[in-house]
Amino acid sequence: MAEAAAMTLSALQKQMRKRFEAAGLPTPRDDARLLLLETLGISLTDLVTRPDEPVDPARLDVVNARMERRLHGEPVHRILGHREFYGLQLGLSAETLEPRPDTEVLVEALVPYLRRIIDEKGACRILDLGTGAGALALALLSLDPRATAVATDVSANALETASANAAALGLGDRFAVLEGSWFAPVEGLFDIIVSNPPYIRTSVIGELAVEVREHDPLLALDGGLDGLDAYRAIAASANDHLAPGGMVGLEIGFDQREDVTALFEEAGLARLSALKDLGGNDRALIFARDAA
Ligand SMILES: C[S@@+](CC[C@H](N)C(=O)[O-])C[C@H]1O[C@@H](n2cnc3c(N)ncnc32)[C@H](O)[C@@H]1O
Repeated sequence: MAEAAAMTLSALQKQMRKRFEAAGLPTPRDDARLLLLETLGISLTDLVTRPDEPVDPARLDVVNARMERRLHGEPVHRILGHREFYGLQLGLSAETLEPRPDTEVLVEALVPYLRRIIDEKGACRILDLGTGAGALALALLSLDPRATAVATDVSANALETASANAAALGLGDRFAVLEGSWFAPVEGLFDIIVSNPPYIRTSVIGELAVEVREHDPLLALDGGLDGLDAYRAIAASANDHLAPGGMVGLEIGFDQREDVTALFEEAGLARLSALKDLGGNDRALIFARDAA
């Protein structure tokens, strides 16, 4: 009896892309390529230069199982268990949000402030409220060895993941975690307070894409009735924990610029800048204590 021909790399990639297209997934080509490369542990160059190489049947089963998960709406990075953020590889877990490229806008906006504070003080104390996988704190820590960070979250699972990420990146000795709601577990003053809190209105969560609605933790999404609950809590105590010359950097939803600005102005802070993401949407705000 003739043996069935082994599946080749290019045939498998094509099959995955076609199934993702047929299922109406938004980025079928990218998803197929990333799942294939990461699962087989090969590079894009391998794929391009050795398209006719047969796929090991044991690995083929793993690729097929992952393809089925993607077809059921699970995002690629959740399936892989990690995602790159600001050039750092971050592990994910059940209670961590998958860090998004748009959040890098907030890191970029804070870079000049972090550099100025370190020039002036020789150190920079960072507080990341609602750290998730640690994205914001770890990105900022990676910029300068004189920076230190405290990261909070209400999720113990997220804090475990953030700590493991810090250790894996060699940043663990400058990174500490505290479990609790916003400022409740926090003591002391910080030069940069940063947060990407949950900011989606409760009523809108059911309308989000399945990737977000069913795979990002609700705790990371739900900002309450008007989406502003976390900003209210953070604005109420930010001034108590801001060192002289310090700033607050926040990610916001596309339609929250003026509401969040009003909350922080009422709390005695002044808006220094408002940043847009690559899609042209309002994405980040920076505040400092109002000098007036
Ligand atoms: C939108 S996610 C952001 C995660 C991460 N900072 C990032 O940018 O990828 C919001 C995070 O806030 C946390 N969170 C929700 N409510 C909180 C609270 N009351 N106090 C502290 N953290 C909270 C969630 O567990 C989640 O990790």
